[in-house]
Amino acid sequence: MIYKTDEQVELMRKSARLVSKTLAEVAKILKPGIDTLSIDKMIGEFIHDHKAVPSFLNYQGSYPFNSCISVNDVVVHGFPTKKELKEGDIVSVDIGVILNDWHGDHAYTFAIGDPGPEVMQLIQVTKESLYKGIEKAVAGNRVGDIGFAIWEYTEKNHGYGVVRDLVGHGLGRNMHEAPQVPNYGKRGSGSKLKEGLTLAIEPMINMGTREVFTDKDGWTVRTKDGKPSVHFEHDVCVKKGTADILSDYSIIEKVEEENENLFTMADRDAFAKASASKGIS
Ligand code: MF3
Ligand code: CO
Repeated sequence: MIYKTDEQVELMRKSARLVSKTLAEVAKILKPGIDTLSIDKMIGEFIHDHKAVPSFLNYQGSYPFNSCISVNDVVVHGFPTKKELKEGDIVSVDIGVILNDWHGDHAYTFAIGDPGPEVMQLIQVTKESLYKGIEKAVAGNRVGDIGFAIWEYTEKNHGYGVVRDLVGHGLGRNMHEAPQVPNYGKRGSGSKLKEGLTLAIEPMINMGTREVFTDKDGWTVRTKDGKPSVHFEHDVCVKKGTADILSDYSIIEKVEEENENLFTMADRDAFAKASASKGIS
């Protein structure tokens, strides 16, 4: 496993922040009627304008787009398409960059209009589970502690399906480094975490069954039961006491709140309150 120096971690923070900034740009333009191919084009231009390259393009000699945009039952690795987004869709946008030789790679799931309370809960719980995992990404713990925390919160406590076929990973000069970081596992098992280990932690959580399959295109991963799936990903560095989160959701969340086409937990709570005061259940 490759442990990074403090200087290298600062370079990785720059890469991670560029991904966060790109996701915030995406949050600005998301609305019903926009197609995901035009979002992917914007992503590529924004990354190039910031002296970086999109790391997904030509990944393994074959991935054909700048980003992965995964709608509803698509878990991850969705191809951007000309199909327009509509009210009630949920959209995971996963972006990778190489800036100064260092990778950033993370993802965020947005709701276009109101997808309904069950799907909002899936989004909320998946995001919270990412932080449950990050809490365990501290020196002295083991990789299995991260996966156990995510699994316990999502599958054990909420009955969702934790995808087993895809995992998080080490991140650095390469997009995928050791160790693999599953979103399930046994407490106290797996490699020991030491300071300077940089990880992409990425719960992929299904509303229904954990089972997935890959489309004929060789990339698009979908839920077997056709129910929705949510994906959040952060780049973190293992530290003593608390992990250092290199990516920055706050700039994405600010735009998400401001964009009236995007539905957030605050919108859901406001709706619930208004309904209650009108005596609607
Ligand atoms: N974030 C994904 C990962 O961690 C995306 C890489 S798939 C690619 O593996 F083909 F688009 F690069
Ligand atoms: Co990743």
